[in-house]
Amino acid sequence: MTVVNAMLARKSICALPDLLISQIAAGEVIERPASVLKELVENAIDAGAQTIEVRLESGGIRRIAVIDDGSGIPPEELSLALTRHATSKITSLPELESVASMGFRGEALASIAAVSKLTITSRSGQAPHAWAFSRQMTQPEAASGAIGTWIEVRDLFDDVPARRKFLRAEATELGHCLGTLERLALAVPEVGFRVFNGDRAIKNWLPGSLLQRIKQILGDEFVQEGLLVEHHTGLLRLTGMVSRPTASRARADRQFLFVNGRHVRDRTISHALRSAYADVLHGDRQPAFVLFLEIEPSLVDVNVHPAKHEVRFRDSGAVHQFVKNTLTQVIAQSSVAQDESAPSQAQGALTQANDAQPLSQPYPTPHLAPTQSRLTLSEPWSGSAHATNRSSYTPQTAPHNAWVPAHAPLVDDVNTEQVDWPLGRAVAQVHGVYILSQTHQGLALIDMHAAHERVVYEQLKIALEGQTLPTQALLVPVIMPASEVEVALVQEHTSSLEKIGFELSAAGPQSIAIRSVPAMLAKGDLEALARGVLKDLADVGVSALLTEQRNTLLATMACHGAVRANRRLTLEEMNALLRQMEKTERADQCNHGRPTWVHWKMNDLDKLFLRGQ
Ligand SMILES: Nc1ncnc2c1ncn2[C@@H]1O[C@H](COP(=O)(O)OP(=O)(O)O)[C@@H](O)[C@H]1O
Ligand SMILES: [Mg+2]
Repeated sequence: MTVVNAMLARKSICALPDLLISQIAAGEVIERPASVLKELVENAIDAGAQTIEVRLESGGIRRIAVIDDGSGIPPEELSLALTRHATSKITSLPELESVASMGFRGEALASIAAVSKLTITSRSGQAPHAWAFSRQMTQPEAASGAIGTWIEVRDLFDDVPARRKFLRAEATELGHCLGTLERLALAVPEVGFRVFNGDRAIKNWLPGSLLQRIKQILGDEFVQEGLLVEHHTGLLRLTGMVSRPTASRARADRQFLFVNGRHVRDRTISHALRSAYADVLHGDRQPAFVLFLEIEPSLVDVNVHPAKHEVRFRDSGAVHQFVKNTLTQVIAQSSVAQDESAPSQAQGALTQANDAQPLSQPYPTPHLAPTQSRLTLSEPWSGSAHATNRSSYTPQTAPHNAWVPAHAPLVDDVNTEQVDWPLGRAVAQVHGVYILSQTHQGLALIDMHAAHERVVYEQLKIALEGQTLPTQALLVPVIMPASEVEVALVQEHTSSLEKIGFELSAAGPQSIAIRSVPAMLAKGDLEALARGVLKDLADVGVSALLTEQRNTLLATMACHGAVRANRRLTLEEMNALLRQMEKTERADQCNHGRPTWVHWKMNDLDKLFLRGQ
């Protein structure tokens, strides 16, 4: 019935009218006032503005005006500025491949004009006065105004109710606008910004050094606590500031990443960051950072996303390794006593850079022969491995030896066997979190989950090295809901997943069947485990996951395989865990760098009670 209707109702093919094409295109990039603002401010930056003024009304819903003192647009080009696919920024594919401006698609103004009331008033250096133009006009009209461009956008989405509906409260939209402005302003500290909402001036960021801009936006405290990042190899450069692990945050709200001056979200780099902090940052704590990666433009594709929120690296493995190694090094140094010199160093480097060239500008393009322009993985960061190990691990032998005196006296109720148990004999589980144990010399408190996680991690490592990872087939496969992306990952990487002990398969367009898992993880939450592994897989790709990122993968697996808090353990189970810990290398540190146990000798306890004093 419906098929017949559809056939009868067939309409002939027509080319869409221009305005409708722009309205459709606007759907991709113009989501809310903040997206309009991003496009307008990027244009002002591309025009070489030194000061940009932003005027919002009702959080940008009623009005967004961006006024700059850049190059301006000559009157004969004003109508082109509003034409789709018209740009002054590139003229050929090679230019696209090495584009350094923020814009290049020539679509933003046309799209915005199609879903709002937009007017451009602009005066270029040669013109005796300004000219104004809008979509409704056929000719520009003479206007007054200084050199530069003034763009007014009013009544966004008034004619597009479907979009209008999705706008939130004014305060929310204003928040998005400010977030967008912060991201843009960090990338160009040499440009001043004045922001008004209604009559109220809400931001005034003076032009200055990157460090000053970071202070203005992230606050003094971040800069005082921050660690300076400044490292480059031939084709890559990473600069900026990251928070010390001790100054981490509960939310991921202070994270700014720029690739060649463009704010982006990038999974490769986020993952590299997380790995660099993995051993020192506990659980779900988030680092704060402002990082600028500069890369030879032909090695990165910025034309991936219409709103340019993402980029694609030609060699993401190399970028991952570079970022991870650089940050691991920076973080490792933070624990070395240099607190005095760090802030002043940071100050020096970041302010200086501003004099010569803003840090965020694209890295000067070296002229490379095509064969040279490939990044390689062969640039291990010298010394980084030592640095991490030094800061996060204590040799396992130290506590061991300290606990077992050379001439261990035999005390009444401690038999010889127990003398060899540095972690003692479990006596109770405390609040479902800790194991209390009586040791030869006092008492110990062990963090159950952290300790087990470490044990499982080391066991997995050994098993995988020896390729003897035993798997356990599930009698009844676990079916879990999944995204299409997860299902695709499973289908693509079936054999790699098998190598790490998983048999997963698609059970439908949006579900995955878990058929086997590594035997030592079979008791955990299998769904969370599978999800964690797939997430790692999506983040770094299978080849990196099985080679340089293997420990990250094992840590994910171990975390899901380890006993959770509030699981009741029997004394036997607790003792078994203690014995495993003793056998496990580095069991005194969990995978997040936290200690797994503490010990008090009888002396320490006696002191607490002032015994014998
Ligand atoms: N603030 C501005 N100052 C000077 N020229 C501008 C400004 N905004 C837009 N333009 C001109 O209008 C053209 C079209 O802008 P837009 O639609 O954003 O496309 P794109 O930025 O991708 O080129 C730009 O290429 C530029 O020449
Ligand atoms: Mg633009």
